[in-house]
Amino acid sequence: MHNVQRRVGMTFSLCMALIFISGQVFAAAKEVKIGFALSMTGGGAAYGATQKNGIQLAVDEINAAAGSEGIKIVPVFEDDASLPQQGINVFNKFINADKVSLIIGPTLSNTAQVTDRIAQQAGMPVLAVSNTAKGITEIGDCIFRDSLTEMVVIPNTIKVAKEKLGVHKVAVFYGNDDAFTKGGYDAFKQAIADAGLEVLTEQTFAKGDRDFSPQLTQIKSKNPDAIIVSALVEEASGIVSQARQLGIAATVPIIGGNGFNSPALLKNAGEAAEGVMMGASWNASSSLPLNKKFVAAFTARCGNPPDQFAAQAYAGVYIAYEALKKAGSDHKAIQSALGQIKDLDTVLGKFSFTSGRDAEHTPVVQVVKGGKFAVFGE
Ligand code: ALA
Repeated sequence: MHNVQRRVGMTFSLCMALIFISGQVFAAAKEVKIGFALSMTGGGAAYGATQKNGIQLAVDEINAAAGSEGIKIVPVFEDDASLPQQGINVFNKFINADKVSLIIGPTLSNTAQVTDRIAQQAGMPVLAVSNTAKGITEIGDCIFRDSLTEMVVIPNTIKVAKEKLGVHKVAVFYGNDDAFTKGGYDAFKQAIADAGLEVLTEQTFAKGDRDFSPQLTQIKSKNPDAIIVSALVEEASGIVSQARQLGIAATVPIIGGNGFNSPALLKNAGEAAEGVMMGASWNASSSLPLNKKFVAAFTARCGNPPDQFAAQAYAGVYIAYEALKKAGSDHKAIQSALGQIKDLDTVLGKFSFTSGRDAEHTPVVQVVKGGKFAVFGE
């Protein structure tokens, strides 16, 4: 009991304090600190920027509605620079200096696979809002995520490619030095085998590569029905542009995973991005009332519509808020309250965690149409 009280005291900036002003007594909202580790620079910066916009919108909405008796979120933002070592520095700061109640992030699975071990050891709950590689929530019972994994999303993408586009023979191209791109490759490989597709060639690239023409020339020579790519958006944009420059026809679809779900792909690859397909957990056209409200508010505030990363980050703050309302700032209580979340209405749809603390809701297949992410087949 004393321990619990001490922890509560440490993490609450203001604990339902009664404030005397002019002889009157007012109750103040509980302030709970959340640390947000986002990739604002480096290879994941396109994701971090839009995540931050989604988070800030959710925090402002929650705090504006808190009144005098609710929970107010005090956000602490840090840039993990898309680098595992910087992620470690940020997590240590959140745990030891800021003494946050919960961490949301980091942006990339490649960083999460090391930072989340530190959080787990410290008993610090973490909610991932964009990590989709396998092996993240397996780190321990403090780690949750609202981002559907590649293993859940990709089989559906491959099924749609086979059934609707008649894809039977594929080339596979993936980054072999990143937890997400390797995990995506594993998921594609499994889904391709399960669907009975033939793999004509497998090619790899490394993080930061700019010239993909040697591998794409190999791929072109095999004449595949589709090119399956597991890449983050920087490399994905280069691959898509160069594939079309090399004369791989637009009738040969390029199919990606979660890393493709960024407007940076549309901006960097331009016309070449038309027809690119990717598995996703969300599309802006979802007619859920909560989603319509979110898309309108985000667009009014940021001047552009949200992407899937913004939606998952926005949903993540509300999922966290649901737990904080019940648990206050105690780490164990937050962990337990997160685990109990069931059928929560979010912009992603009704949201529950699986028994393994992963996300559970229906994936979608997106396609780039007229410079926008559309739902495939609609
Ligand atoms: N989904 C990407 C990852 O997990 C951003 O790294």
